[in-house]
Amino acid sequence: MNGNLIIKNANELVTCSGFAAKKGKEMSELHIIPDGAVVVKEGLIDAVGTTKEIEATLEKSGSELSDFDIIDAQNKAVLPGFVDPHTHFIFGGYRAEEFSWRLRGDSYMDIMKRGGGIVNTVQATREASANELLQAGIKRLDSMLSFGVTTVEGKSGYGLDKDTEIKQLEVINHLDGIHYIDIVPTFLGAHAVPEDFKGREDEFIEYMIEEVMPQVIERNLAEYCDVFCEKNVFSVNQARRLLSNARELGFKIKLHADEIVQLGGAELAAELNATSADHLLQASDEGIRQMAQADVVATLLPATAFSLKEPYARGRFIIDSNCAVALATDFNPGSCFTESIPLIFALATLYMDITTEEAVAALTINSAAALDRADTIGSLDVGKLGDIIVLENPSYKFIPYHVGVNTVEKVIKKGNLVFDKEKGGITFC
Ligand code: NIG
Ligand code: FE
Repeated sequence: MNGNLIIKNANELVTCSGFAAKKGKEMSELHIIPDGAVVVKEGLIDAVGTTKEIEATLEKSGSELSDFDIIDAQNKAVLPGFVDPHTHFIFGGYRAEEFSWRLRGDSYMDIMKRGGGIVNTVQATREASANELLQAGIKRLDSMLSFGVTTVEGKSGYGLDKDTEIKQLEVINHLDGIHYIDIVPTFLGAHAVPEDFKGREDEFIEYMIEEVMPQVIERNLAEYCDVFCEKNVFSVNQARRLLSNARELGFKIKLHADEIVQLGGAELAAELNATSADHLLQASDEGIRQMAQADVVATLLPATAFSLKEPYARGRFIIDSNCAVALATDFNPGSCFTESIPLIFALATLYMDITTEEAVAALTINSAAALDRADTIGSLDVGKLGDIIVLENPSYKFIPYHVGVNTVEKVIKKGNLVFDKEKGGITFC
């Protein structure tokens, strides 16, 4: 585990090269090197090129090849590790019962109004011990890793009170330290209105600003602040108040915007220069135009629309409006209980008019940008982390083509092979 690795003879080295979000036509340019190779030294990408070029450079520099692990990727495609920039993977309990109600016709918001939904998971998360949350978190991260995810964002938001929000964030930070996957922590204290604040939403926002956010920042527990800006949850004005204060305290900001109802969340994201606005199923043309102008990444979550039987976000229109699009799973126990990257590819390409090339960019360089990390991950460029996946097929085109099936064979994190399907899964832990 020294982070020194050479991958050579790749049929396609899909670099996704770039250090910023890709917009419009740029999203189709994957910068593929045929018969490609990549060298990782001490966890960082040291060289990228054709196998011939890389072998010549290694020979010239007199590098000791015995210091490197070597992977022969003949007949395989090699890509940057996937980045999943929107998940709620730390929670107690499950909501399988609610899923069956939804299959019988109840809507997500109706269940929420009846006191189910997010607040149901809040109860179970308040009752869960930190260790229970941690153990469940490890299993979920292991599964994500097997799909080629090397960085994930994880939100709090199932506490809605100081102690539980902090407990969730502590677990997320702990997991970041012990698991191969890097985790970007997000504070989502304003995820729903808890029972004791019903009808007093403004007071709840004040409570978050005054009592909870300062602690989260002081203890360095989260990088982002997020809010569920939605009809019957938090209004645009309440979201603006929360996020403006969050920014002043030192958080970066993102928001759940225009998911069920067109409320002006996309416009708010542009006004506040948020890093990303997420969901956007109902976002207005003008909101999208403003987001493109303000360089806000549109993080689309097709598996949520699929699970809720809602219309998909307008992927084609958003890309054609020159707005950078990222894709994410939205893994959570309610609206979208899946960490499946193949499902995201299938839905984005077959139902959102997003091309395979755009979907690859949306799950690598653009999802890195949705976490403000396009300078360090999301592409195979010299200086970035050696986070790499090897597919079992010769081309990235197999990812959506092999519908709903995991095509990832190997996962490399910081230059170390950490998952290998051929060796039965996760290699060390
Ligand atoms: O992104 N929409 C709000 N939050 C989550 C759902 C969380 C839940 O249902 O537990 C989402 O879809
Ligand atoms: Fe979400």
